[in-house]
Amino acid sequence: MSVDAEQFKAAMSRWATGVTIVTARAGDEIHGMTVSDFCGVSLEPPLVAVCADKSSNTHRVIQEGRVFAANVLAAGQEALSNRFASKKDEFRRFEGLRCGTAVTGAPLIPGALESLDCRVVAAHDAGDHVIYVGRVEAVVRGEGAPLLHYSGAYHALAPVE
Ligand SMILES: Cc1cc2nc3c(=O)[nH]c(=O)nc-3n(C[C@H](O)[C@H](O)[C@H](O)COP(=O)(O)O)c2cc1C
Repeated sequence: MSVDAEQFKAAMSRWATGVTIVTARAGDEIHGMTVSDFCGVSLEPPLVAVCADKSSNTHRVIQEGRVFAANVLAAGQEALSNRFASKKDEFRRFEGLRCGTAVTGAPLIPGALESLDCRVVAAHDAGDHVIYVGRVEAVVRGEGAPLLHYSGAYHALAPVE
């Protein structure tokens, strides 16, 4: 029994996730996109992974610069998530944002719940995506609650009664 793209998307939409903006830098060029395919991989050394579509600009910039930051979005940052996912004005996504940097130079999104600044240690080919494994060089912690994504919509965290 084969699974087509629509079935697969519908299945994966039931996997509730947080939302990150993965930013990258290659020389003077910065770029970033909204990413939910982010996870922790190893404690020692501290490694995380992000999956980037091979057709994305962000993939190209990570490939060139070998660094990225995974900025975990906070509740209330839905508009920022949509901005970094939209192809409209895709090269003006950082306009009006006062981004800092930590160790690698990848932009840190203001107001994020936290930012993990990473250097790429491995890149695995995976179908139409590349899995980038990054060693975490710095963690910058913010404040607030997480932004969640489930079944094609944003949600807020609620405790189980
Ligand atoms: C909630 C959400 C999660 C997403 N997760 C991913 C992801 O994990 N990997 C990916 O490559 N694209 C993901 N996307 C799509 C990209 O954000 C989108 O294609 C973006 O326009 C790519 O930008 P770029 O080509 O300028 O890098 C996601 C979009 C949304 C709204």
